[in-house]
Amino acid sequence: MPETARLQLGDKAIDLPIVVGTENERALDIGALRAQTGYITLDEGYRNTGSCQSAITFIDGEEGILRYRGIPIEQMAEHSSFIETAYLLIWGELPTENQFNTFSDLLTKHQNLHEDIRHHFDLFPSNSPPMAVLSAVLNALSCFHPEMLEIEDDNSFQEAAARIMAKVRTIAAYSYRHANGFPTIYPHPDKKYTANFLHMMFSQPYKEYEPDPELVKALDLILLLHADHEQNCSASTVRMVGSSGANLFASVAAGVCALWGPLHGGANVAVVDMLEEIRAAGMSVKEFMQQVKNKKNGIRLMGFGHPVYKNFDPRSRIIKKTCENVLARLHLKDPLLELAEELEATALQDEYFVQRKLYPNVDFYSGVILRAIGIPHSMFTVMFAIGRMPGWIAQWQEGRFVSKSRIHRPRQIYTGPTQRVYTPIDKRG
Ligand code: CMC
Repeated sequence: MPETARLQLGDKAIDLPIVVGTENERALDIGALRAQTGYITLDEGYRNTGSCQSAITFIDGEEGILRYRGIPIEQMAEHSSFIETAYLLIWGELPTENQFNTFSDLLTKHQNLHEDIRHHFDLFPSNSPPMAVLSAVLNALSCFHPEMLEIEDDNSFQEAAARIMAKVRTIAAYSYRHANGFPTIYPHPDKKYTANFLHMMFSQPYKEYEPDPELVKALDLILLLHADHEQNCSASTVRMVGSSGANLFASVAAGVCALWGPLHGGANVAVVDMLEEIRAAGMSVKEFMQQVKNKKNGIRLMGFGHPVYKNFDPRSRIIKKTCENVLARLHLKDPLLELAEELEATALQDEYFVQRKLYPNVDFYSGVILRAIGIPHSMFTVMFAIGRMPGWIAQWQEGRFVSKSRIHRPRQIYTGPTQRVYTPIDKRG
């Protein structure tokens, strides 16, 4: 196998080192390209660009493989929990019992918000988008924990990571309670991570919410399945912001903003909107599919397609099965699940989707299961953000302290006007 690739530009040739990953992925290292040739590469959307070397998550989009720190997602889904998965992603190894307990204790210790943060929620209008509130309050945490702005060692990183992991679900639940005019429910010191979130969402001061343990398990699984996905839009944002030296709170707050868009984490809301609209319009699956294929008004089959997976997204298979189990357990028949299954079956047979290698992604069924658990529609993308938090933290830490990356600074090919003369305002037009 060659160790370099030769690039010929006119009469000049340069050798580009070949970098090989542990799964035999190959890259051309173009670090010296501009200095040696004056050229840059152009790769809009970065589909051919590795922005870093990373040891956190492996995806093979052609084969539908996803592994966290080497462990297949199917095994994590079957045997692990969200918190154990978070530990694995952030620290690279599954925790011993002792390490797991220490981490859990830290999460419990940090789960309350400073009382003054609670008052921040009063300043947001009740119809504020929860992703905006989440991002703003996560960023505001840095005002309350200034000692966490400079992370110099493993201990301060562990404290900051635990603070964010613990507080993100408290912020999320408070934003929901506030938006609906419900009294705040504080986190319970004896409840585990996911059950505690449901407690803060749905308990009342006079009545404790007691969720079906199977629903808690299903929600924990959803969080686990969202925990990391290598260099996606939001993780790249977190690494980009972190590369400037910005603190962890600011970096993950930026990650929330990137996740919000309908082509990324916002797709779980868009899927349920789409299913509801099809039903409300009394449209048949065939009619809807025709609109998608005609690209009418840019309509897409939301929850289908992925920039990396050109085969089944392994998370969608697990979510679909869990979704069917949860609904069966609750003796629920959700017409949206039936419609989603019909759309999926039709799409998988349709030349348009087959040719473009469009398969259901993680968001196709997650909204249906979140509905069944009782999570309001407005909070779906927030659930994705809670799930993705350990991945963002791990990516930030790797960029800052493992690979010690330089500030991220892509270049461009300028296509605007060439030099021209400034015209005074009275001479314009
Ligand atoms: N429905 C209909 N057509 C589609 C879809 C879709 N969901 N996705 C892609 N296409 C078509 C697209 O119109 C294009 O067709 P053509 O070749 O005729 O121009 C072709 O497939 C390639 O599309 P693309 O936009 O270049 O693909 P991409 O890799 O840039 O986009 C995507 C990936 C996820 C943004 C896109 O598939 C999409 O918009 N899906 C719906 C939104 C969605 O479900 N997003 C969640 C992504 S998974 C969760 C996460 O990690 O964020």
